[in-house]
Amino acid sequence: MATAVLVSGTGTILESVLEATTVGVVVADRACRAIEVAQAAGVATLLVDRRDHGGFGPGFDRQAYTDALSDALADRSVDLVCMAGFGTVLAPTFFERFGGRVLNTHPSLLPRYPGWRAVADALGDGATETGCTVHVATAALDDGPILCQEAVEVRADDDEATLHERIKAVERRLYPATIVAVRAALDAGEEATAVAAAPVARR
Ligand code: GRF
Repeated sequence: MATAVLVSGTGTILESVLEATTVGVVVADRACRAIEVAQAAGVATLLVDRRDHGGFGPGFDRQAYTDALSDALADRSVDLVCMAGFGTVLAPTFFERFGGRVLNTHPSLLPRYPGWRAVADALGDGATETGCTVHVATAALDDGPILCQEAVEVRADDDEATLHERIKAVERRLYPATIVAVRAALDAGEEATAVAAAPVARR
């Protein structure tokens, strides 16, 4: 069985995952640097393009997109799906099909600051601390069982870019370690959530 990583952006989290574990396929929803990262690493890539399913506007057919992505992953015997900066919200059927085996990394200490603007929201809120969360993804956005979290200090002179980069530096350590632990749990016949009971190593 194989691990898939879903990407949409620059792929710096992906780079850290590829250094830590074997990835069967990297799937993007749009042309992005992350696909080039995967190709350069010799990993199979697949573009399930939103533009083939209505693009980014109100015409986007979320269910058709989700079906196409689900079928592509099933065809490749994927049993663990890791979202790493993936910019498409998938239909609930995805989480039924890959139930309990979809992971996400999010740049806040969930349940605080869910959504796409997590870093800006923490800054706007005057938070002195935020962080990152690795969790099992469910149909509800940025929800689901938390596997591990780590706090990151917000500095007085931070802007969104500097704060996000410091959070991502932690994500690049925490997410690969968690994926390795989840892969081992699944291979041992356990659930991904077994990892929450045995926290991944911290530096
Ligand atoms: C990460 O902060 C991740 O938590 C968020 O998107 C970012 C991806 O970063 N969902 P990159 O594209 O891998 O650099």
